[in-house]
Amino acid sequence: MTTLHRDNTLPDWASIPLPDAWPDRLDLRRPRDLWQLARHALGLVHTPVELPPELPGREQIPKYILQEFHNLPNGNYSRRFTRGYITGFDRVMLGEISKSHREIAVRLAAEPAVRAGSVLDAGCGGGGLAGAMQQAGIAEVWGLDPSPYLLQHAARDWPDVRFVQGVAEDTGFADNTFAAITACFLLHEIPPRYLERSLAEFARILQPGGLLAVCEPSPLQLRRSPLALWRDYGWRGLYFHALARFVHEPFLDAWHRQDLPALFARHGFELLRNDVSVPMRHLLARKAT
Ligand SMILES: C[S@@+](CC[C@H](N)C(=O)[O-])C[C@H]1O[C@@H](n2cnc3c(N)ncnc32)[C@H](O)[C@@H]1O
Repeated sequence: MTTLHRDNTLPDWASIPLPDAWPDRLDLRRPRDLWQLARHALGLVHTPVELPPELPGREQIPKYILQEFHNLPNGNYSRRFTRGYITGFDRVMLGEISKSHREIAVRLAAEPAVRAGSVLDAGCGGGGLAGAMQQAGIAEVWGLDPSPYLLQHAARDWPDVRFVQGVAEDTGFADNTFAAITACFLLHEIPPRYLERSLAEFARILQPGGLLAVCEPSPLQLRRSPLALWRDYGWRGLYFHALARFVHEPFLDAWHRQDLPALFARHGFELLRNDVSVPMRHLLARKAT
């Protein structure tokens, strides 16, 4: 199988040397450095992400990405925090992320055309969903992410998946390449103008009839009252309410305001599933044939 990407030779993310970012240079035995870190992690300050001058592909990373999402010091751009983020994200989400990864992988692998074809996980982070799809038996799995630090972990953890640096709105793949695309906790991190471009790009690189599987934070934990969440979801409802209020998510409100059936229809997708619970929303769409 030959999947076409505009870069003929892709870097070997597992072994490429990556420069230190500012959190990597801190000495956590020094109270001053520890406090610098704690201010960011506690959400007391959010400063723009600083990319080291020698970081591979730094010129391709759009400005809106260079923010401290989830209160991570320097966002997804340090060696020190990306490994912890990969495992910590699922723990903080009480295992719901790895559960969704497994469910999406099994669901897509059950489609013969997808199982035998190529799938792209957009915004792959540490590669958990891409890896789950490869383990579920999908023939060719790709992961795409702008952060070299996350790509490095992903490539080391999942050597049989191919990882490429890039963004959802400009993936670099040829038209009609993929039988399916997945995006888990990606779309709510993209501002509306780029969200439209991302869906247009997904429609371009998906084959006719191809599937788009999405999981995102649910609006319920932000929009419903703590009392209603307690009544319907118990302590988990209150936990996800507090979490949604604590972490820095600059575009989450804009995402929740989207008319999703209209958004998907504008880009030629039929929405097959739109399930909203706490803490996740799962969507499945099919590109018109
Ligand atoms: C919350 S993490 C989710 C990671 C992974 N999908 C998972 O399920 O664990 C969001 C990821 O999207 C990536 N990202 C942010 N904006 C992006 C964009 N425009 N295109 C592609 N990836 C993006 C981030 O670097 C990060 O790895």
